[in-house]
Amino acid sequence: MKHKLEVKICTGTFCTVMGGSELLLLESKLPESLKNKVEISGVVCTKDCEKGTNKNAPIAIVGETVYDSLNINKLLEAINKELNKIETE
Ligand code: FES
Repeated sequence: MKHKLEVKICTGTFCTVMGGSELLLLESKLPESLKNKVEISGVVCTKDCEKGTNKNAPIAIVGETVYDSLNINKLLEAINKELNKIETE
Protein backbone atom coordinates (compact mmCIF):
# COMPACT_ATOMS: atom_id res chain seq x y z
CA MET A 1 0.00 0.00 0.00
CA LYS A 2 1.46 3.36 -1.05
CA HIS A 3 -0.20 5.72 1.36
CA LYS A 4 -1.50 5.47 4.86
CA LEU A 5 -5.25 5.68 5.33
CA GLU A 6 -6.12 9.10 6.71
CA VAL A 7 -8.43 9.12 9.70
CA LYS A 8 -9.60 12.61 10.62
CA ILE A 9 -11.51 12.78 13.87
CA CYS A 10 -13.74 15.79 14.42
CA THR A 11 -12.62 17.82 17.42
CA GLY A 12 -15.54 20.24 17.22
CA THR A 13 -17.50 20.88 20.40
CA PHE A 14 -20.63 18.97 19.46
CA CYS A 15 -18.81 15.85 18.33
CA THR A 16 -16.58 16.00 21.42
CA VAL A 17 -19.50 16.09 23.85
CA MET A 18 -21.35 13.40 21.88
CA GLY A 19 -18.50 10.94 22.37
CA GLY A 20 -15.80 12.22 20.10
CA SER A 21 -13.38 12.50 23.00
CA GLU A 22 -13.37 8.68 23.15
CA LEU A 23 -12.48 8.57 19.45
CA LEU A 24 -9.38 10.63 20.12
CA LEU A 25 -8.06 7.63 22.08
CA LEU A 26 -7.98 5.69 18.80
CA GLU A 27 -4.21 5.60 18.60
CA SER A 28 -4.01 3.62 21.84
CA LYS A 29 -6.81 1.26 20.76
CA LEU A 30 -5.43 0.39 17.34
CA PRO A 31 -4.49 -3.26 16.93
CA GLU A 32 -0.78 -3.73 16.21
CA SER A 33 -1.63 -4.88 12.67
CA LEU A 34 -3.16 -1.49 11.83
CA LYS A 35 -0.65 0.82 13.46
CA ASN A 36 1.47 1.38 10.35
CA LYS A 37 -1.51 1.65 8.05
CA VAL A 38 -3.33 4.69 9.37
CA GLU A 39 -2.55 8.34 9.90
CA ILE A 40 -4.72 9.88 12.63
CA SER A 41 -5.39 13.57 12.95
CA GLY A 42 -8.02 15.93 14.29
CA VAL A 43 -10.19 18.10 12.11
CA VAL A 44 -12.31 21.14 12.94
CA CYS A 45 -16.10 20.87 12.74
CA THR A 46 -17.00 19.77 9.22
CA LYS A 47 -20.62 20.99 9.69
CA ASP A 48 -21.87 17.42 9.42
CA CYS A 49 -23.28 17.84 12.93
CA GLU A 50 -25.64 20.61 11.87
CA LYS A 51 -29.39 20.21 11.63
CA GLY A 52 -30.56 19.20 8.19
CA THR A 53 -27.67 16.88 7.46
CA ASN A 54 -28.30 13.18 7.71
CA LYS A 55 -25.26 12.69 9.93
CA ASN A 56 -25.07 12.36 13.69
CA ALA A 57 -22.16 13.32 15.90
CA PRO A 58 -19.54 12.20 16.53
CA ILE A 59 -18.09 11.93 13.07
CA ALA A 60 -14.76 11.05 11.53
CA ILE A 61 -13.57 11.10 7.95
CA VAL A 62 -11.94 7.80 7.04
CA GLY A 63 -10.29 7.97 3.66
CA GLU A 64 -12.82 10.02 1.75
CA THR A 65 -15.94 8.86 3.54
CA VAL A 66 -17.67 10.58 6.45
CA TYR A 67 -18.73 8.09 9.11
CA ASP A 68 -21.14 9.20 11.83
CA SER A 69 -22.67 8.04 15.12
CA LEU A 70 -19.28 6.62 15.95
CA ASN A 71 -17.76 4.90 18.92
CA ILE A 72 -14.33 3.28 19.00
CA ASN A 73 -15.58 -0.08 17.72
CA LYS A 74 -17.52 1.46 14.85
CA LEU A 75 -14.50 3.57 13.95
CA LEU A 76 -12.27 0.49 13.87
CA GLU A 77 -14.84 -1.22 11.61
CA ALA A 78 -14.82 1.83 9.31
CA ILE A 79 -11.02 1.75 9.16
CA ASN A 80 -11.01 -1.94 8.26
CA LYS A 81 -13.66 -1.35 5.60
CA GLU A 82 -11.72 1.52 4.03
CA LEU A 83 -8.43 -0.41 4.18
CA ASN A 84 -10.09 -3.31 2.39
CA LYS A 85 -11.24 -0.92 -0.35
CA ILE A 86 -7.67 0.38 -0.80
CA GLU A 87 -6.09 -3.07 -0.73
CA THR A 88 -8.46 -4.43 -3.35
CA GLU A 89 -7.95 -1.47 -5.71
S1 FES B 1 -18.65 19.29 15.78
FE1 FES B 1 -18.12 17.58 14.56
S2 FES B 1 -19.07 17.90 12.67
FE2 FES B 1 -19.56 19.63 13.85
